[in-house]
Amino acid sequence: MSTPTASPLGPGRLVGRRSGPLTGTVAVPGDKSISHRALMFGGIAVGETVIHGLLEGEDVHRTAAAMRAMGAEVARGADGVWRIAGRGVGALVEPADVLDLGNSGTSTRLLLGLIATNPITAFVTGDASLRRRPMARVTDPLTRIGAHFVTRSGGRLPLAVTGTDAPLPIEYRLPVASAQVKSAVLLAGINTPGTTTVIEPVPTRDHSELMLRHFGAELHVEALPDGASAIALTGQPELTGRVVNVPADPSSAAFPIVAAVLVPGSRVVFPGVGLNPRRVGLIETLVEMGADIRIENRRSEAGEPTGDLIVSASELRGVEVPASRAPAMIDEYLILGVAAACARGKTVMRGLSELRVKESDRLTALVQGLTACGATVSVDGDDVTVTGCAGAPAGGAAIATNLDHRIAMSFLVMGMVAREPVTIDDGQPIDTSFPGFIALMRGLGAAIDGPLA
Ligand code: S3P
Repeated sequence: MSTPTASPLGPGRLVGRRSGPLTGTVAVPGDKSISHRALMFGGIAVGETVIHGLLEGEDVHRTAAAMRAMGAEVARGADGVWRIAGRGVGALVEPADVLDLGNSGTSTRLLLGLIATNPITAFVTGDASLRRRPMARVTDPLTRIGAHFVTRSGGRLPLAVTGTDAPLPIEYRLPVASAQVKSAVLLAGINTPGTTTVIEPVPTRDHSELMLRHFGAELHVEALPDGASAIALTGQPELTGRVVNVPADPSSAAFPIVAAVLVPGSRVVFPGVGLNPRRVGLIETLVEMGADIRIENRRSEAGEPTGDLIVSASELRGVEVPASRAPAMIDEYLILGVAAACARGKTVMRGLSELRVKESDRLTALVQGLTACGATVSVDGDDVTVTGCAGAPAGGAAIATNLDHRIAMSFLVMGMVAREPVTIDDGQPIDTSFPGFIALMRGLGAAIDGPLA
């Protein structure tokens, strides 16, 4: 028998139901990308790093644990402020046990870069989702620098890495638009003599570059004649502990933002959201679709722009989202798909190949989930077209979250706007990036049934 608290679908089952207007002001947790980097750079800087607003999600806890296992002192104060006593560049100690990085691709790829140029051996694994994800995209360039890897077939985890004590500076042109690959090479370049250069054909998030400068590294970015950028890092800098103020994560804010746009009568305020131009593709797209999103009080913190967002319910129309925008909203296509299903007309999202290698195959999840909720969806290669229903989709579906936090949150939002409730089989993965999501949404007025808070 199925009840809201004991279901054949499992203890993490949640149901999103049609909701009344969402109203209030919400503190979205800290940016995941910036939180990982603050812990890593703090761990290899000399002196104390103080982090305000660190994301206390499962993925970031994995990075904190890994940095501790490699000798950094990482502690959370009762005031919620995190303090790190770093080890200095090139001084990581060998972890005594396997590094289990859970669900976190960012922890894995960036830490492999860091380890690659420290003369230590580490064994790395993760959950079933992470063990399916491709790691050759980082082990290939890191091998050229001098690190040694033994991986499972297909370059998958678990793997063993031995860092080199004689690293070679490389020039590496990114074969995929990936900030994680760029960052892995730059992190390896920190303890490499000479200049390590990454050539980026299309811009991806630049949090590593901004934070490397903040901690005292020398980094030059040059525009190349073919439109690419060359990012040149001078190796073996003296990194010094810093204060890092982490903005609210625009990729997490995306879920309550889209909910506020879609649920009639809503008005929600989001203070201090990160507005790095390489992260705001979803906001740009929603505004093109007709969403009422105002940005006030723009400011900047260590090179990271932030601002307050005021989001009101709006009627949306379909738009074309160019492939060139994909890196600036790579984590936001699932929730954009929910918005597209409610819009009038067609939304075409181009260039989604990278969605296939996220926490799950999100391209398939997008198509199957939206179709199950009554939307009309078609796929042509890496392009997806959603024909919206100019209002509330049918809903009434049961969605498998496949260890993917963003599938869980996206389809709960679908349930808040659809005519019939939407069930997700497991909301527990939400904690990887957005602890407190359910309570925050309920606080705005969202109807979510289920045992998780
Ligand atoms: C991230 C980069 C993106 C993104 C991930 C975080 C980062 O991954 O999907 O959530 O912090 O660098 P890719 O670089 O693989 O696109």
